[in-house]
This record gives sequence, structure tokens and C-alpha cells, in this order.
Amino acid sequence: MSALFEPITLRSLTIPNRIWLSPMCMYSAAAEGPEIGVATDFHLAHLGARAAGGAGLVMVEATAVRPEGRISPYDLGLWNDRQQEGLARVAALIRQHGSAPGIQLGHAGRKASNDRPRAGGAGLSAEQGGWETVGPSALAFSADRPAPHELTVDQIQDVVRAFADAAKRALAAGFQVAEVHGAHGYLIHQFLSPFSNHRTDGYGGSFAGRARLALEVVAAVRAVWPEELPLVFRVSATDWLDGRPGWTPEETVRLAKELQAIGVDLFDVSSGGNVPDARIPLGPGYQVPFAAQVRQGSGAATGAVGLITDPAQAEEIVASGQADVVLLGRELLRNPYWPLHAARELGAERRWPEQYDYVVGQRG
Ligand SMILES: Cc1cc2nc3c(=O)[nH]c(=O)nc-3n(C[C@H](O)[C@H](O)[C@H](O)COP(=O)(O)O)c2cc1C
Repeated sequence: MSALFEPITLRSLTIPNRIWLSPMCMYSAAAEGPEIGVATDFHLAHLGARAAGGAGLVMVEATAVRPEGRISPYDLGLWNDRQQEGLARVAALIRQHGSAPGIQLGHAGRKASNDRPRAGGAGLSAEQGGWETVGPSALAFSADRPAPHELTVDQIQDVVRAFADAAKRALAAGFQVAEVHGAHGYLIHQFLSPFSNHRTDGYGGSFAGRARLALEVVAAVRAVWPEELPLVFRVSATDWLDGRPGWTPEETVRLAKELQAIGVDLFDVSSGGNVPDARIPLGPGYQVPFAAQVRQGSGAATGAVGLITDPAQAEEIVASGQADVVLLGRELLRNPYWPLHAARELGAERRWPEQYDYVVGQRG
């Protein structure tokens, strides 16, 4: 019996297998006008295909809770009705294929206002359609980026409300899993790390101060997200700072315990993103030990992500108890049917979508 294809139940939701599509920005929404941030036919086809391909959960890309929280002008958003309607089509299609629809809610903070990566990813000025970014402190991400506006306490409270409002909309759109984006150097991670958070008020300084935004966002989202549905938190387990003061795996475990106590059901454990010159030892499954550490240290369920490409590797991660699920990114971009091929390789019983389910020699 394959561990990877064993269903997983989080709260009252049973997800048919442990292969999840990792959230990935497609930078394919309209940048302005009435359709700003609205899921397009591309999103529908792309995400629907991954559900048809057998992923147990399909996580929609980082979806901005406010316009200024977009990484680029082409990001999805979830601050208005039109965006909610567009995503409702996506969630319905994912469910039709038997997968659980999830959505990552995010705010890019000081890493907002960039061109899309395929156009070079440079910071955008106001004339180029960019906007002033915000952050915990007026510290630029890198030398080629402007320093963000330091958020006031009232503005931080607005951000917390924005996450809760977007979560309400995600629920109304039909999503069954919400993921708060606390990783990759975006706003919540900027607050967590002493590298990017130099505040001296109640949102900075000690671990408790730096973790306060994460805790407040999760509490606000949990308050509007139904008891019976799971809440996921994506965390970067380390800033990879080689001894310079930054966010660490030990603090990640501590955070996971505190967030689990207020209703996070699974930690999606990634790393990095907050420091441009971090040295990251990339290799197959290089972040899996962090998922294992968080799982062991907090007792919470975890997801492992990063260069997981091979069915036997994915099976081993789950079977050995290093993580409860795996998230696949680029491999599922290249091959949406990876889960169905993996099922065959691992001897699990998974049917192809009925429209495609012909045996050799059989004709329609
Ligand atoms: C095109 C692209 C877009 C991404 N967008 C997001 C995102 O929206 N949110 C996020 O948390 N991670 C994002 N990531 C990171 C992936 O979710 C994943 O963690 C990373 O690619 C490592 O997994 P992989 O080796 O399986 O691709 C993105 C990665 C890629 C390649």
C-alpha cells in the first residue's frame, strides 16, 4: 500500500492523496482595469489540468489580499467581487475532478511592485505601473529596490483585516483549504525575521513581537474560516544567513507550536526568500529535513516542498514520517499527470479522468 496515496483527513476534510500542487504565481491576470487580479481562462485550464492529473489538492498561487500586496501587477487578487467570481469557477472545476481546492493568501510587503519574472522581474516605478511598497521597517530588500514605507500600527491592523476579508471571499468562492503565506520574504516573513524587522514597538524586537503579525493574521483568518475546514501556514524555516542574525529553524518550531494552538492544521515548510545573497544548498529534497524538524518539534502535520520530482522519493518522505504531504512545483508544471503516473509506479489504484480512461485498443 502506498503511503503517498493514502487519503489524509484534516479537520472534516478528506483529501484523496498526499500530492499537492505547490502554489505558483503564473503572472497571468490583468494588471489593471475591471478585470484586475481576476483569474483568467489560463488559470482555469492550468489549475483544472493539475486536478485532472490527480493532485490530491490544488493550491492556487499567492493571491493578494490588497492591491499593494501583489508581487507584480499580473498577480491574482481577492479583494473584490469580480475576483471572487473568477476564483469560484476555478474552485468548482478542481472539485469536479475530485481534488480539494486550496488557495494561498498573501501580501508581498517590500517585495511587491515588480515586473513579471519572464520580463526580467525588475522593480517597477510609478510610471511603469508600480507602487510604493510597505514593510515592517524602511529597509530595502536589495540595493536595486526602494526602501518600503514602514507600516504604522493602524496600517498593520488593516493588513490583518485584509487577510480575514480575503479568507471570507475564498470560502464564498468554494475553497476548502486556506493557506496563509508566511514564507519567502513576503510581508509576514519580513515581520518574523530580525534581518528585515527592526521595529522597536510591539511588532518587533523579541520573538513574541516579530511573531505577532503572523499570530494576528492566523487568528483573524481562523475566526472566519469554518471549524470543519483546514488552515495551512507556509513558513520559511530559515533565512540561510550563515550566522548573521535572522530567522532560524528553532524559531520556526516555536512559531509552529504557537500557531497550531490557535488553529493551524498543517505547516507547509519551505525556506529562504528574505535575503538576496543567501547561500542555499539546493539539491533533491533539500528542505525535507525542515519539514521533519517542524513535525517532530511541534507535533503538527507538515508538508515538504522543494525539488521533489521522483515518485519513490515522494513515497519515502511520507512513508518515513518526515512529512504528511508533499508539494510539487515545477515538476507539476512540466507534467500535470505526474500523480497518475506515480500511482502506477507505486502500485496504487487511481483512475484517469473518465474522459481519458481507455485501455489499449479500446475506441470511443
Ligand atoms: C513559477 C513559480 C512561481 C511560484 N510562486 C509561488 C507562490 O505563489 N507562492 C509560494 O509560496 N511559492 C511560490 N513558488 C515556490 C513553489 O511553490 C515551490 O515552493 C518551489 O518551486 C520549490 O518546489 P519545486 O522544486 O517542486 O518547484 C513559485 C515557484 C515557481 C517556480
